[in-house]
Amino acid sequence: MRSQYLVKDILKDITQKLHPHIPRAAREAQLLLMAHLGCDELWLITNQNTSLDNLEQLFSWVARRAKNEPFEYIVNSVSFYSEEFYIAPGALIPRPETEILIDEVLKRIEDTNAALSFAEVGVGSGIISIMLALHLPNAKFIAVDISQAALDIAKINIEKFHLSQRIELRLGSLLEPVNEAIDYLVSNPPYIADGVSLESNLSYEPQNALFGGSVGDEIIEELLNEVLKRNINFFTCEMGYDQKDRIASYLANKNYKDLAFYKDLSDFDRGFSLRL
Ligand SMILES: C[S@@+](CC[C@H](N)C(=O)[O-])C[C@H]1O[C@@H](n2cnc3c(N)ncnc32)[C@H](O)[C@@H]1O
Repeated sequence: MRSQYLVKDILKDITQKLHPHIPRAAREAQLLLMAHLGCDELWLITNQNTSLDNLEQLFSWVARRAKNEPFEYIVNSVSFYSEEFYIAPGALIPRPETEILIDEVLKRIEDTNAALSFAEVGVGSGIISIMLALHLPNAKFIAVDISQAALDIAKINIEKFHLSQRIELRLGSLLEPVNEAIDYLVSNPPYIADGVSLESNLSYEPQNALFGGSVGDEIIEELLNEVLKRNINFFTCEMGYDQKDRIASYLANKNYKDLAFYKDLSDFDRGFSLRL
């Protein structure tokens, strides 16, 4: 047993363990140690010669990261829209492009103090309903997911942001558990075609959060049908980069006021807003 295990040596050892398996190993070593200690970068830089012990958890994290498990699942934390959310393997890790969906919704709301009723299909970790609720202080949300594991994670986040009075979670498929009239539907549904092979780290994420059917846009079409049938005023939805044409032609003969597609930061088509 070594007597002194200094921060700088720990970082060197972790980097070596991570190096063959993941890119940016030195940076990931710093991030894992910071998460383990709950410290910031300044502490790390100014404490290179500090000795640490009780490192079992850290080394189990390093072993998991070396197998390409996503960093966010290991440290149970993810940043989205400048807020920190709890995350665990039962829910999709929020993606930066979903921040655009939040902006797309907010720019369509004329009165942010209105008592609007929202539904979200596929709430996952809760990030969309929570961020909208934080910006729309009088809006109420019914947030549905087919996965109880995802709902359990969303509940932790909803409680963290003290939003239990305004975001109600319901287990079920699509809008089946929602009988109430709603003003606005939002969704980031699974939209990858079944069988598409993905990067290995995505195998850690719930497959029913990723795959949306044999073509990929089946759930989006079902949601469009619900919007039209229930006469929901607004619908904002994320989609795959190659789904714009199919969605536009699906709506070609339908009755609506406006359909606007939006792109992500890499200039890929990424979603749309429909107004009836
Ligand atoms: C792409 S994830 C989005 C999660 C979260 N809203 C986000 O943006 O990070 C899709 C979510 O839809 C859920 N889901 C899949 N099929 C569903 C269905 N038929 N009805 C309701 N939710 C569904 C999955 O469990 C998953 O949580």
